[in-house]
Amino acid sequence: MICIAGKNNIAVEITEYLQVLGYTNICVVLNSTDDGVDSFQRSFKKYALQKNIPIKTLEEVYKIKDLIFLSLEFNKIVAPEKFLTKQIYNIHFSLLPKYKGMYTSYWPIRNGEKTTGVTLHRIAKGIDTGDIIAQEEFEIEIFDTCKDVYLNYIKYGIALIKKYLPKILRNEIICKPQKSNESTYYGRNSVNYQDICIDLIDTANGINNQIRALVFRDFQLPQINGKKVTHCLITEEVSKEKPGTILEEQKWYYKISTIDYNLLVYKDAFEYILELCRLGESEKLQWFIENGYNMNDQNSKGWTPIIVAAYHGQYEVVKRLIEHGVCVNKTNYNGTTPLMYAKDYAFSTNDFKTVQLLFKCGAGISQKDYNNKSLKDYICEQYDDDKFNYFFDKLYQ
Ligand code: TYD
Repeated sequence: MICIAGKNNIAVEITEYLQVLGYTNICVVLNSTDDGVDSFQRSFKKYALQKNIPIKTLEEVYKIKDLIFLSLEFNKIVAPEKFLTKQIYNIHFSLLPKYKGMYTSYWPIRNGEKTTGVTLHRIAKGIDTGDIIAQEEFEIEIFDTCKDVYLNYIKYGIALIKKYLPKILRNEIICKPQKSNESTYYGRNSVNYQDICIDLIDTANGINNQIRALVFRDFQLPQINGKKVTHCLITEEVSKEKPGTILEEQKWYYKISTIDYNLLVYKDAFEYILELCRLGESEKLQWFIENGYNMNDQNSKGWTPIIVAAYHGQYEVVKRLIEHGVCVNKTNYNGTTPLMYAKDYAFSTNDFKTVQLLFKCGAGISQKDYNNKSLKDYICEQYDDDKFNYFFDKLYQ
C-alpha cells in the first residue's frame, strides 16, 4: 500500500498520478488544517473524499506492513521507529541541509538567496534530517515573492517525485547523508505573521527583500504607513535624508530614503487592476504594467487580470496582457481557464475575437477543471454538440 500524507496540489497531483499509473492500493493521511475547501491550493481532503480514497490516521498507518509512506507538505512530525516499514520519504521545500524547519519560502528571500530548491529524502528521527535521495535547484528571480517561490516548490516538488517514483516503488533508492557544516534551521517562532513590520532602517535591497518575503496575497501583504504594499523598485538616487524617511507619497507609491538608495514602494492596486480589466481600460492598465505590478496575481477566487478581461470580452486588454507575457492558461481556483471564461461572452454577443486571440496565443481547449470537465463538456451541457462544433470552427477562422 502507498500512503500519501500531506496537503495542497502536491499531495493531490501525486495521488492523481498514482491512480493514472493504475495504483489502487492507496490511502491518505490529512493535515489537521485541511478544511475540505479549495483555495489557492486544492484541498487534499476534498479530493480524497471525492475519489473515495481511504483516509487514515498516522497511528493507523504506522501499523501497515509493506507500506510506502510519502509525506508531501505533511504538518505532523512522524516517528520513523513506529513504522513497520522502512520506506518512508518526504519532500522538503529547500536545498537540505539548508533551511530545515519552517517558512522555507520566506527565509531564502529574506536572506537574499539567488536559488533554492526541493529535496527528496528519507525520513529520520529529527526535523528534516534524513538521508538525501535527490534534489532540484531553481532560481529565485529578483521580482519573485514568497508566493512565487512557494508555487515553484510545488511545481518542482511534483516533478521530482514523478521522476523518482519508479525507484521508490521498486525500493531501489540510493541516498547520501546530509552534510553537517552547511545545515541551518528556522522554527515556528522565527516569523511572527501577527505582527509584521518592515524595518526601514535597511538598505534598499534589504527592504526589497523584506517586502518580497512577505508578499503572499492568500496569507497577507506587508504594510507601510498603514497601506498594503506589493513590490519595490530601487532607484539610482543616493539617499540623502535619514533612512526610513518617506520623501513622497503618491496615489500608488511611496518614495522612501534608505541606508543607500531611494526606493519606490508600490501600494496594492490589485482590485483596481481587475476593475480596469473589466471596464477595458487598457491605457490606464499600461501604467501598472510598466510599474512592475504582477499581472499574473490572483484574488481570493483565483481570478487573474486576463480571466476578468476574457470574461468581459475586453479584447484590447487581453491583447495587452498577452503582449506583456501573462500566462494564457492560468486557471482560477476551480481550474477554470481564461478560454472557458471567454466563451460565455462570445456566445452571448457572437463576438469571437477574444476567444480567437486566446486560442491563437496558446490557450488549451482540452484542459479539464477540478470537476474533471473540459470546455467541450461545458458547451455541450449548456447548449449542444452543434454549438461546440460552431465554437470549434470559429477558433480556426
Ligand atoms: P506553510 O504551508 O505553512 O509551510 P512552511 O512554513 O513549512 O513553508 O506555508 C507556506 C509558505 O507560506 C511559508 O513558507 C511562508 C508563507 N506564509 C505566509 O506568508 N504567511 C503565513 O501566515 C504562513 C503560515 C505562511
